[in-house]
Amino acid sequence: MIKPIYLDYNGTTPHDPEVLDAMRPFLELEFGNPSSSHWYGIKPKQAVEAARRQVAGLLGCLPEEIIFTSGGTESNNHAIKGIARALRKKGRHIVTSAFEHPAVLEVCRYLEGEGFETTLVEVDTKGIIDPEKVQRALRSDTILVTIMHANNEVGTVQPIAAIAELADERGIVLHTDAAQSLGKIPVNVKVLGVDMLSVAGHKLYAPKGIGVLYVRKGLAPEKFCHGAGQENGWRAGTENVVGIVGLGKACEIAARDLDVNMDCMKKMRDQLYEGLVAGTNDVRLNGHPDLRLPNTLNLSFKGLEANRLLEEIGLEVAASPGAACHSGDVAISHVLQAMHVPVEWAKGTLRFSTGRMTTAGEIDQAIDVVVAAVDRLRGT
Ligand SMILES: Cc1ncc(COP(=O)(O)O)c(C=O)c1O
Repeated sequence: MIKPIYLDYNGTTPHDPEVLDAMRPFLELEFGNPSSSHWYGIKPKQAVEAARRQVAGLLGCLPEEIIFTSGGTESNNHAIKGIARALRKKGRHIVTSAFEHPAVLEVCRYLEGEGFETTLVEVDTKGIIDPEKVQRALRSDTILVTIMHANNEVGTVQPIAAIAELADERGIVLHTDAAQSLGKIPVNVKVLGVDMLSVAGHKLYAPKGIGVLYVRKGLAPEKFCHGAGQENGWRAGTENVVGIVGLGKACEIAARDLDVNMDCMKKMRDQLYEGLVAGTNDVRLNGHPDLRLPNTLNLSFKGLEANRLLEEIGLEVAASPGAACHSGDVAISHVLQAMHVPVEWAKGTLRFSTGRMTTAGEIDQAIDVVVAAVDRLRGT
């Protein structure tokens, strides 16, 4: 069977072959529990600690500041709930943005039920958050600012370092969701100036179900999970050794190959953009032209419906819709809504995202497929 060309690397990534090689011994041989004091526990324990150093190396932090979780959603939950509950006596106000991932927005909404208040800072039409707007949202009872590093749909990269200065001046904790940025652009917790940062392994050529929360030393969110005391007592539960080893290796590769990968993803993305703009009319780019992940291309095809377009190309190209139409109603993604993309454009939005495995031949084929589908649907 010929598979569709994969252009949905923001959705998830395949395993890197080096990641698979690193994980294999822990699937086949080294089944021990890292907490066991006998022989079987030694290698798994060493592997978990080696992975912690690999992740810390990529993020520019101390290994003890790394907590392994089950993924981006869990990291965001723990960061936001954990710090909000720990600081509730100090204040109950959280600042976030209107176009965060649901793994942040839903957590903030949930906390409103516990008496917290959330302010959603608006993004501009290019998908960028102005630090001045964050500043205006801050109050004397603000305890947490959580703003994503890069947006998953349009790829825009936020001015986190500038926001960090504002938060730091007022002693407010800053969390960022870096699920989409890690491995695609430099991510260093010191350069960004963040107190907490979330990572999702499966966006980084590591397995699904593994992630990381960086928590700056000295910060004390509530414990994530009570039990036997793994992860220095932060998150109890026997470690996902295979996933941790895979994520460690993925971080080592990301640090080693970042420049080459950025260059490759960007070349492929730009080739796709140029081909689609040359081959179709009435197409617009959503997101900032420059302040954007090197792999993300969010395009609206005016007058078309995203799901119809995906049906036309689905056997040949795998991409993601930015809107869904059901019996005449259109549900436009909250990201496009936050950016005020006009409905007649937003309805026909697709997100293409390239990866380090994407080839120029695949992009040429994808251009032909998408251009032909747009022409068929428009009857041109
Ligand atoms: C920005 C962002 N945050 C969080 C998540 C959730 O991560 P996970 O799938 O590992 O729970 C995703 C995944 O789509 C994401 O793109």
